Amino acid sequence: MSLLITNIGELFTNADHHLSRDAAVIVDGERIAWIGPAADAPDADARIDADGAAVLPGFVDSHAHLIFAGDRAGEFAARMAGQPYTGGGIRTTVGATRAASDEELRRNARRLVGEALRQGTTTIEIKSGYGLNVADEARSLRIASEFTTETTFLGAHVVPAEYRDRPDEYVGLVCGPMLAAAAPHARWVDVFVERGAFDEDQARNILECGRARGLGVRVHGNQLGPGPGVRLAVEMEAASVDHCTHLSDADVDALASSGSGICTCGWSDRTVATLLPGAEFSTRSPYPDARRLLDAGVTVALATDCNPGSSFTSSMAFCIALAVREMRMTPVEAVRAATLGGARALRRDDIGVLRVGARADLIILDAPSCLHLAYRPGMPLIRTVVHGGRPVGA
Ligand code: NIG
Ligand code: FE
Repeated sequence: MSLLITNIGELFTNADHHLSRDAAVIVDGERIAWIGPAADAPDADARIDADGAAVLPGFVDSHAHLIFAGDRAGEFAARMAGQPYTGGGIRTTVGATRAASDEELRRNARRLVGEALRQGTTTIEIKSGYGLNVADEARSLRIASEFTTETTFLGAHVVPAEYRDRPDEYVGLVCGPMLAAAAPHARWVDVFVERGAFDEDQARNILECGRARGLGVRVHGNQLGPGPGVRLAVEMEAASVDHCTHLSDADVDALASSGSGICTCGWSDRTVATLLPGAEFSTRSPYPDARRLLDAGVTVALATDCNPGSSFTSSMAFCIALAVREMRMTPVEAVRAATLGGARALRRDDIGVLRVGARADLIILDAPSCLHLAYRPGMPLIRTVVHGGRPVGA
């Protein structure tokens, strides 16, 4: 079945013709089949009149933790009253997640994925990391893979309470039986490299084990303070290092010179800096400096970090608004980071872009331009979401 979207006021493609006016798009099945001036558009089985609105690629949320149970609103309230965020609450969610049934975890993930999709997120990465034993990490990833192909094994989120005095034994468990049980359901491996979580040697060991199993590498790094996360991610040729809040000049240089710089297979092999402003918002922390990264030539992505502790939002539009207001990104840079940037962080060339042959994942705004995503923060601007060629909810 083909669908013609016509009368587009502004087409934000992330491709050659970055912005074009009076355009039309035809999708056929799950792919984009034609893009051109509305006046030349061929016929299709169905038609949507965009009525002068902006059209952009669906958001690519390349960092979310959606397999969990329980609620930590009290922890958020305490932070807003002055308590610091330490990551200690992760163990609270681990307890609730272990106690939950498969169906409860599935229902919660379905609700969050649905909420994200209605707000324009057409690709979402989902991590484990609240099971932290063999059975609960494996089932977290099994459930995650019901919702996305972008699944990430985060058995190395923190050392669980029962291993508190034996962290190296826990690293052995992660690299051995846990990875073996998780890998069939995972595309990526991730480690939280931070004081209080995992150090550089432990992280390198875990990432190497994951890579030997065929998983791609991503890292949580430099969130709560300076540290080795970014440099390790670049050394390991990670697709992405996420948070990047506390960076040295050497970290920025390492990101800027990562990869071969040659795009042979459609995607770049650079290490993307994925910024997660929802976490700084919800932990009342200083925001990362996106301008410093962009000016150095680093590829930047924006993602939600949706999780019950540090960032309980799945709204990419909210992250765009924060990035523009607080992180010195222009609105166009922020929209690009939330679409093409996320695609690069997942090493995908079929999403985050509107071009013939790409996946037919797109958003029709209730606004004449993408600038409105930051200009009208908090407003319901996502009029229609097309996911895999089908209008959501139609
Ligand atoms: O990305 N940094 C580590 N993990 C999550 C927080 C998880 C939590 O607090 O439950 C994050 O912010
Ligand atoms: Fe995270």
